Amino acid sequence: MRHLIGIDDLTMAEIEQLIETAEDIIANPEKYSERCHGKKLATLFYEPSTRTRLSFEAAMMELGGNVLGFSDAQSSSASKGESVADTTRVISCFADIMAMRHFKEGAPMVASLNTSIPVINAGDGGHNHPTQTLTDLLTIKREKGRLDNLKVGFCGDLKFGRTVHSLITALSHREGIEFVLVSPDELKVPSYIKKDIIEKEGLPYSQTEDLDSVLPELDILYMTRVQRERFFNEQDYIRLKDSYILTPERLTRAKSDLCIMHPLPRVNEIAVGVDKDPRAAYFKQVLNGKYIRMALILFLLEAAK
Ligand code: NCD
Repeated sequence: MRHLIGIDDLTMAEIEQLIETAEDIIANPEKYSERCHGKKLATLFYEPSTRTRLSFEAAMMELGGNVLGFSDAQSSSASKGESVADTTRVISCFADIMAMRHFKEGAPMVASLNTSIPVINAGDGGHNHPTQTLTDLLTIKREKGRLDNLKVGFCGDLKFGRTVHSLITALSHREGIEFVLVSPDELKVPSYIKKDIIEKEGLPYSQTEDLDSVLPELDILYMTRVQRERFFNEQDYIRLKDSYILTPERLTRAKSDLCIMHPLPRVNEIAVGVDKDPRAAYFKQVLNGKYIRMALILFLLEAAK
């Protein structure tokens, strides 16, 4: 039985295999249309989501399977005080695989210890978001043709942005990656990412507050939303929310083959005028998310046999 709680639950060879499967699904969708016939995916979403939940559901449907679940903790027995452990034990009576998003760091891990079916972490608090990372890696592979030898800039809320933490972790295992971390001082990457991953692996990186000065060097620019829901204080959020706004004017300084990514939802950090720039990959990223989740569901159901 395999689960996906953090991106390091998969080896790099397995991630490459998932990317290959996703690319095959894109090329030959009909080959996969009945592969999950008779199987059920449960989506347990205790936190808001549009892309992640619906892409999981679309992924299972395109594999010929069915979906059930809830999209709001208030409509589940969590509102009556049921624990994550009990809820997941119950869900494993109904479904073959589950995807869980929770506002508490570690909740999907607790779920995985209390169930007989594979658990996928669909985002836990400010911690991890491994399926967004698979989405991001497939996007990088398709846009740049490689996962190595890239200068990758992360910009915005690197403290609470869970997609950033998981993607840095995954890229730390590749060759020739250099990180450029752009954020206000208060929103720098947590020390477990900086010390235990980037510095421990001896990876080249720089930290700055100035996006314009580093933009011309980047192969990838990963923009993020300031995570309002994780702030203790609304005043701090208001002060920091518009720290970086990517505009067409700013982008005139960037490489012609830059790949601009964003896990979405976007608030203000990318001006709408950037959407028509051929370097903007964030809406393609959404579609890639469905394909890689199809590959992941197949992989985990196979491992559970
Ligand atoms: C991200 C998340 O939930 O962490 N969204 C997503 O899953 N694509 C990013 C965000 O909410 O800012």
